[in-house]
Amino acid sequence: MKKDISNLIEEAKKAAGNSKAVYSKFPVGAALLSKTNKVYLGCNIESSSYGLSMCAERVALFKALSENELNFDSIIIYAPKANYCPPCGACRQLLFDYAPDLMVILTDGKNYKLYPLKDLLPEAFEQSQLK
Ligand code: THU
Repeated sequence: MKKDISNLIEEAKKAAGNSKAVYSKFPVGAALLSKTNKVYLGCNIESSSYGLSMCAERVALFKALSENELNFDSIIIYAPKANYCPPCGACRQLLFDYAPDLMVILTDGKNYKLYPLKDLLPEAFEQSQLK
């Protein structure tokens, strides 16, 4: 990983600060690092129609994909109200679809833990199964 983890932790905190968690009051920030060292930030964005809400990780991923960024190194996730905030199942699947070799970094704002995405989604469904 080319970018300093402490730097990424600060980016994820910044993203969490933009969270629109008006209903759950559970802000989450994500910083997705591309292989070329670009950082795409995401925060959770909630809706009055709760099911329309979107997780921080997918916001970061969609931002990057919409700019045609296709190669990813890692994602760091920070939720100030949790010790460590693991990505939900839907986010694991989406991240796996576009970045199966991603490293997932969970931080409490100071310390961090690393998990290869493949370990968080064993026996994943993937594009090749559609053939
Ligand atoms: N949330 C995320 O943004 N990322 C996660 O990894 C877990 C959950 C959001 C969804 C919702 O806005 C709030 O946290 C509470 O579930």
